[in-house]
Amino acid sequence: MRAMAVRTFGGPEALEAVDLPIPEPGPGQVRVRVRAAGVQPFDTRVRAGWAPPSIRLVPPVVVGNEFAGVVDAHGPGASAFQPGAEVLGFTTLGCYAEYVVVPETQMVAKPPAMPWEVAGGFPANAQGAYQCLSGAGIHEGDTVFVNAAAGALGTFTVQLARAWGASTVIGSASPANQDHLRALGAVPVAYGPGMVDRVRAISDRVDAAVDLHGVDGLRAAVALVADRRRIRTMVDDDAATELGVPLVEPGRSAARLTELCALWEQGRIKVHIRHSYPLDRAADAHRGSETGHGRGKIVLTVD
Ligand SMILES: NC(=O)c1ccc[n+]([C@@H]2O[C@H](COP(=O)([O-])OP(=O)(O)OC[C@H]3O[C@@H](n4cnc5c(N)ncnc54)[C@H](OP(=O)(O)O)[C@@H]3O)[C@@H](O)[C@H]2O)c1
Repeated sequence: MRAMAVRTFGGPEALEAVDLPIPEPGPGQVRVRVRAAGVQPFDTRVRAGWAPPSIRLVPPVVVGNEFAGVVDAHGPGASAFQPGAEVLGFTTLGCYAEYVVVPETQMVAKPPAMPWEVAGGFPANAQGAYQCLSGAGIHEGDTVFVNAAAGALGTFTVQLARAWGASTVIGSASPANQDHLRALGAVPVAYGPGMVDRVRAISDRVDAAVDLHGVDGLRAAVALVADRRRIRTMVDDDAATELGVPLVEPGRSAARLTELCALWEQGRIKVHIRHSYPLDRAADAHRGSETGHGRGKIVLTVD
């Protein structure tokens, strides 16, 4: 099968086209013919040589931790999906390829109307937003601050906070992405020096906050939110610990993904595709991700 893999860890050019054996599904596993795979900062870090906890990277390493595609085969004991079923799901590595093998518990049926690109870029960030917001505890009528709100994860976080009842979501973005935030239902604010004052000028009460950029955003959140248990960061665990902010708890599941797909079907979460690249342009996709700027989601398509 065709895949984009890393033999020598490094910059985006380290991603090279390789020909690998089609993987066989083991017990409880399903093989999926990938149609689209999301691109995340997580993938760029693995490409550069960072090993996710308890994973040993053995080149050639195929990165990519979310996918959408068509079930092609299943291993012993896997019976939830028949060949031909359209699914989306999550794993840790392996999605920048024509085929991926994943436990059947890590995928759900694709909503029939969901385009492949949307489905491939949905599982990781939708669930990341869920993890942050469920940890912070979103209640009806809350005012929520999201730092780095226009990016892939921010776009989901803003909409999920609104879907869960936040009456006001204040999101930070560069001027170029502020209309995008308005369209998502957020009140935009510029990031950078003075951001806390600009947020306070919009609302004198901020109940909860999610930081998706780093320590400056986390410090702003601490200045704005009275109860630090209602703050989360996806970026800087060390700073969170230092500031007494609880860490985001892991928790991806098929049940959670099903709930989020239902919100997409109801039109309450929309996915903005920033750029879609064919699989063999994975290096360009990583270059785009590593700018650290942009709105919505980068995906790879696999013909
Ligand atoms: N730990 C986890 O499980 C996990 C999971 C997913 C993501 N993450 C992390 O979450 C972060 C966001 O991921 P993503 O996929 O959303 O990235 P992304 O799509 O690249 O978005 C990054 C966003 O950051 C904004 N930004 C740039 N400089 C900023 C600044 N100084 N202050 C505030 N915002 C700024 C950009 O806005 P403009 O374009 O308007 O400048 C952009 O929209 C990354 O660090 C990623 O590694 C962690």
